[in-house]
Amino acid sequence: MMDRYRTIIEPFRIHAVEPIRITTREERLAAIETAGRNLFALHADDVLVDLLTDSGTGAMSRDQWAAIQHGDESYAGSPSWFVFLEAVTALWPFRHVIPTHQGRAAEKILFSVIGAPGKVIPNNTHFDTTRANVEASGAEAVDLVIAEGRDPSALHPFKGNVDVGALEALLASRGPDVPVVFVTVTNNSGGGQPVSLENLRAVRAVCDRYGKPLFLDACRFAENAWFIKTREPGQSERAIPDIVRDMAALADGMTMSAKKDGLANIGGWLALDDDALAESCRNLLILTEGFPTYGGLAGRDLEAIAQGLREVVQDDYLHYRIRSTAYLGEALDAAAVPLVKPFGGHAIYIDARALLPHVPALEYPGQALAVALYVEGGIRGCEIGTVMFGRQPDRSERAAAMDLVRLAIPRRTYTQSHIDYVIEVVTAVADRAADLRGLRIAPPQPVALRHFTARFLPIT
Ligand code: F0G
Repeated sequence: MMDRYRTIIEPFRIHAVEPIRITTREERLAAIETAGRNLFALHADDVLVDLLTDSGTGAMSRDQWAAIQHGDESYAGSPSWFVFLEAVTALWPFRHVIPTHQGRAAEKILFSVIGAPGKVIPNNTHFDTTRANVEASGAEAVDLVIAEGRDPSALHPFKGNVDVGALEALLASRGPDVPVVFVTVTNNSGGGQPVSLENLRAVRAVCDRYGKPLFLDACRFAENAWFIKTREPGQSERAIPDIVRDMAALADGMTMSAKKDGLANIGGWLALDDDALAESCRNLLILTEGFPTYGGLAGRDLEAIAQGLREVVQDDYLHYRIRSTAYLGEALDAAAVPLVKPFGGHAIYIDARALLPHVPALEYPGQALAVALYVEGGIRGCEIGTVMFGRQPDRSERAAAMDLVRLAIPRRTYTQSHIDYVIEVVTAVADRAADLRGLRIAPPQPVALRHFTARFLPIT
């Protein structure tokens, strides 16, 4: 019945509302000036539509809030731990599940154990905290996504795929230095692009030839599974949990941020099959996160995640999720705004370098565009470009590979009218893109991770 109509409705009704404070352009100009034109420094009450991240910013369901009331805060062996364990292993039947307070805590523990100077860790594309945790261990992080995954306009159904030939070459030349092969599903840093089952099988085969474990950075696994169902030959009739279990069967372990496809506001885990490695990781867990049956979480968080995992694999939810992201992309594309294509699962990326060709990369076109979207309509996106990646270890500066603005969509949070408003605002800013000017960083420059704290000045 539903298929006769074009409109994909949100598969939920609103149960509790959060007010959005409507601001004027003058108020936003004052707020962004106070924030040093850095969107991370804004008071979130001054934001109308917050597309900074899809991480931990989604709405929980009635049943997740109800599950929170079942939270049992026993230090050891809480019933909530067993509920969590059952929900995780129903999709990811690894022998060991180690709960953490978020994804990067799982990364920190794993790479502290298996990373070291001289080691190298391949991934399709490391997310920035993943790369930082690999490098903090002294190891080297190498990105081996297929060529299409580096080109914003190349069309490929699985742009997150690993370049299997490049992986094979790395293992042939440096095999003994590789403790693990990672694949990120979906490939966030490459635009939220999926990885096919066929590619995962090919990666598995190479790992088997060299005797290497394969781990998934599975933050957006359900969105990846939906792309497999809708794009990969022979998958369309399959249930999402079965596709997820296929992904799991190809891997030896995973890191996870429950702030994405756990549909929760906090949480994560590390899961794996290797008994000895699990024991080393649990020993570190106890030092930094907590006892192994709660990790970095309260019992109530474990319950919310368990229920989130049951909801995130439902077809109605994923259909709406992926379609509503594409809805924003299609409308901006029709308005000739340059975008990363095809559209990823959790975000739409505007190609700021293409939209602002008169602003050199070292004058931060992505930041200039992100500031303009905020001033024009109170929309907060995130620069992913030369501000984030341009600074070199020797403190010199280089243009990043791309200058993008990410509009990340929190899960189940904004309605179609919010997105229609975003479309209007972005289109209006794009129409006068030629008037936008670049920015420079006010001295002194932050020493590290400057995109979080730098202050910017207009170039006049
Ligand atoms: N891996 C990927 C692919 C991610 O996107 C993130 C977080 C993490 C790991 C780390 O998880 O935040 O729970 O520690 N990405 C967020 C983002 C922050 O905005 O893309 P975490």
